[in-house]
Amino acid sequence: MSATNPLAAADGKMGAVSYTPRMTNPLFNANRFKLGIFSANCDGGLTMSLAPERWQANWDDIVAMTKIADESGLEFILPVAKWRGYQGKANIYGKSFETLTHGAALGAITKQIAIFSTVHVPLVTPAFGAKAIATIDHVTHGRAGLNIVCGWNQAEFDLHGVHIEPDTRYDHGLEWFQIWSRMLEGGPEFDWDGQFFKGLRNLHTSPVSVQRPRPPVMSAGFSPRGRDFAARAADVLFLNVTELDQVPALLADVAQHMARYHRSIRVFTMGHVVCRPTRQQAEEFFHYFAEEMADEEGQAYYRRNRGATVQGDGGAAIARPFENRFTRATGRRYAGGYPGAYPFVGSPDDVAAEMARMSATGLAGCTVAFVDYLKEIPFFVDEVLPRLERLGLREPRGSSV
Ligand SMILES: Cc1cc2nc3c(=O)[nH]c(=O)nc-3n(C[C@H](O)[C@H](O)[C@H](O)COP(=O)(O)O)c2cc1C
Repeated sequence: MSATNPLAAADGKMGAVSYTPRMTNPLFNANRFKLGIFSANCDGGLTMSLAPERWQANWDDIVAMTKIADESGLEFILPVAKWRGYQGKANIYGKSFETLTHGAALGAITKQIAIFSTVHVPLVTPAFGAKAIATIDHVTHGRAGLNIVCGWNQAEFDLHGVHIEPDTRYDHGLEWFQIWSRMLEGGPEFDWDGQFFKGLRNLHTSPVSVQRPRPPVMSAGFSPRGRDFAARAADVLFLNVTELDQVPALLADVAQHMARYHRSIRVFTMGHVVCRPTRQQAEEFFHYFAEEMADEEGQAYYRRNRGATVQGDGGAAIARPFENRFTRATGRRYAGGYPGAYPFVGSPDDVAAEMARMSATGLAGCTVAFVDYLKEIPFFVDEVLPRLERLGLREPRGSSV
């Protein structure tokens, strides 16, 4: 092979490629309150609004935004797996990038941030999932992660001709996880004849993941079965929180699920950020995009489909919260962000203080989304992150966390 071969040029030692991770996955760093970017792979992001400022999810913007997040020390990128938009005038999510290929691409251009992929487990075999996540884990030298979604919207699955079984979707997901994780652990080939997966032969994958025994797993089931699944299989569970006084009861419930399996998982939630130099500016912009420009039809579509496939919260003692301080004040449904997202609206001091209050409830992290990620993240990074450091929620950047 010639010396000009870029493979040889990379480290000068052909065949001496080391798969030793250069760092641990930042999901396990010392920061008390973890932050990740959510839903930037889809147009609209997490904003059900007709405002023309809304996120268009152009690839080059996603790359630029991801590089800023990477350099600023945020912990993770979490994309949404979507197959069909929410209709309405804005049709948010009508355009979305597939998350495994998105993860491999972003993995190659980042240095420290964890790159999650979101997989609808009924649509991907465990063996495919194991190989794909192992690939991203090698691309990133140990920064891959998997968000397991068992499905809630039949209208999206109709593109695949796959039926969501509301009562057994998490049982199916658990079996998927068991096969997937065993494959990544390595060891001898094995066969699998279970309830949902039968006739799987000679299961193995090579290479196995860089992270041992497997990359971290997230899930976001809210129903009792969803929480139970997370307690058995996930490392991080997302729960919807729209007011902080909801948190103690939710965490107590998760603790019961964890005790059943003698496991400990961390609980995060998802937020939507409007941060401006002053509170008034932030609230005015919020009022504009979330109330004046609300995509009522898209919101109605979501309402219809939310309960169409999976009824209610499956008997959850605690109902999924949708109302927040803005919806209560205005009487509007879904003001800001996405139903169930926590609104951080205000000055950098306001947003940082609100995150500190959230952290104090026991939540270990939060996703952030913006009307325009690329335009708004630099201000968040420059103004909010240092305040979180001063409040003791995050280590000073540049320190080896
Ligand atoms: C942070 C977060 C990420 C999610 N990502 C997806 C996703 O990418 N695709 C999807 O279909 N559902 C996604 N969901 C929905 C959940 O998987 C789940 O269906 C929802 O929280 C309701 O829980 P339940 O299905 O147990 O009722 C997400 C939810 C949250 C809170």
